[in-house]
Amino acid sequence: PEKRKRVVRLWCDGCYDMVHYGHSNQLRQAKSMGDYLIVGVHTDAEISKHKGPPVFTQEERYKMVRAIKWVDEIVEGAPYVTTLETLDKYNCDFCVHGDDITLTVDGKDTYAEVKQAGRYRECKRTQGVSTTDLVGRMLLMTKAHHSNMVRFHTDNFGKGATAHSPWTGVSQFLQTSQKIIQFASAKEPQPGDTIIYVAGAFDLFRILLPHKKKKKKNPDMQISEGICEALCMYVGEGLAINGIHLCKLQPEQIEPKRRGIFRTIDSGNNLTTDDIVQRIIENRLQF
Ligand code: CTP
Repeated sequence: PEKRKRVVRLWCDGCYDMVHYGHSNQLRQAKSMGDYLIVGVHTDAEISKHKGPPVFTQEERYKMVRAIKWVDEIVEGAPYVTTLETLDKYNCDFCVHGDDITLTVDGKDTYAEVKQAGRYRECKRTQGVSTTDLVGRMLLMTKAHHSNMVRFHTDNFGKGATAHSPWTGVSQFLQTSQKIIQFASAKEPQPGDTIIYVAGAFDLFRILLPHKKKKKKNPDMQISEGICEALCMYVGEGLAINGIHLCKLQPEQIEPKRRGIFRTIDSGNNLTTDDIVQRIIENRLQF
């Protein structure tokens, strides 16, 4: 009989606060190293202790990580320091982290133990995006009250290889079609497939996805997946994301309401960008 390939189980952990495409890119790279991805998310208390209070609560962060398409399972309240005991408890072969060093409050590498045991793998950290940078941008936004000055700056984001954030000096992640394709499935739409187009600014990743379960027959679920993919990255260059594939946006084809093919879904969450800004202001002193 044919020998079945052993399933490689992977572990990632982190704060995953204000989930951004750097986080989803990390989980995408991790998943490509094995078969089953478990993500441990730290509690608010642990994060406060080691690096200051998160903007999103643990319950919100659990939901957001669970919604990312490469995540098979999450572990709520995973310890800040990654131990062999944790990897063994969840039967994981190794853990994967971006190529930046994470330290505890007393300066110790949180991955020292798993590194020593050879159960540590690294993926590339995405340049130009971080929670700290997002928090900074949002505070500046409120200061300038969405003024033209801020708009002028944001318009220059990511344009060209030398583009820099006006606030942090960090070079901005360049969105290319090649990058977008890495986030999408390589499959072409087949005759009979339902193709769903989802449009939006997708400025901040919020909790829009209570469930991620793939149920082919439920159209709402397919819409959710579309949003999930769209939220896993920035959309650019006239490319739109649909449930399964990428398609070129053709404005003359998009008259969904007129043609009776427009559906609304309930995101189950009404948190606005302004609410998030308010939270940041409330704990600003601690950043
Ligand atoms: N990560 C990444 N690229 C980024 C930001 C984070 O690959 N731009 C990865 C980290 O290397 C880690 C995982 O995402 O493996 C979770 O990171 P997290 O614990 O949430 O915190 P930070 O690394 O501090 O992320 P940020 O600076 O955005 O808060």
